[in-house]
Amino acid sequence: MKRAQNIAEKIGMAVNCEPENHLYTLELDMDGTRLHTLNQSNQNPIEVNFHSGSHDHRRRFGGGKNQMIAKAVGVTRGGALTVLDATAGLGGDAFVLASLGCSVILNERSIIAHALLASGLEKGLAFAESAEDCELMAIFNRMTLLDIDSRTLLSQKLSTNNVSNNVIDVIYLDPMFPHRKKSAAVNKSMRAFQSLIGNDEDAGDLLDLALQQDICRVVVKRPKIAPPLANRKPSYALTGKSSRFDIYALKKFEKAKL
Ligand SMILES: C[S@@+](CC[C@H](N)C(=O)[O-])C[C@H]1O[C@@H](n2cnc3c(N)ncnc32)[C@H](O)[C@@H]1O
Repeated sequence: MKRAQNIAEKIGMAVNCEPENHLYTLELDMDGTRLHTLNQSNQNPIEVNFHSGSHDHRRRFGGGKNQMIAKAVGVTRGGALTVLDATAGLGGDAFVLASLGCSVILNERSIIAHALLASGLEKGLAFAESAEDCELMAIFNRMTLLDIDSRTLLSQKLSTNNVSNNVIDVIYLDPMFPHRKKSAAVNKSMRAFQSLIGNDEDAGDLLDLALQQDICRVVVKRPKIAPPLANRKPSYALTGKSSRFDIYALKKFEKAKL
């Protein structure tokens, strides 16, 4: 109840124990946090589950360090990198990177997305502990969730003590991109979620701030056919089936990490 009150206060609403027909309902109970969208009753609510379903499947069978995101971030170089995921969303990409050995700081400014993500991380860790799954526990322990706007964080120079005990190697950005077509891959609930979060119109500023940091690279995930973010030409790009990773190489990775 205290958590529900905290969230309600942040978004300026009241907690209602008997929800009526609202456009969106964020439901919190002992089993976690989920978002229901009105008129989507035939759709599953949005919730984050890392320890089961598609995230778990990808962790086990998704191709490990051969995945394009791993190559884009530089995970394939061997050592353990520290990544700031400055647009964490529902944490899917961050979970892949943490599964591949990266320490990931996840920063999410939307109170709703943050609440869903925090619940997914908590449930995942509790599951790993109860199953005594040390590998899964280590993955969750490598993920640290923050709730600030990344532009605020990056408007000062990143230092080890303002976000992490480690030096940040890579900043990862995956801002919302407006979906013009009604893609089957994006279900109705997810589209409703995207319209709740908005289009991240300020993502160009975030990229500019990221490029000013003393780090090895900035990686931006884009739809395959989209122009580079803010028309900033990357050093190079890796293109997959539907997305592309634009890589802005700033300096070499430390030898100790190779
Ligand atoms: C497309 S989603 C990211 C999806 C994520 N990569 C995943 O795998 O689930 C983009 C998210 O970035 C967040 N975001 C955008 N700009 C931000 C900023 N300046 N600071 C923190 N979060 C930001 C948005 O609220 C949104 O939840």
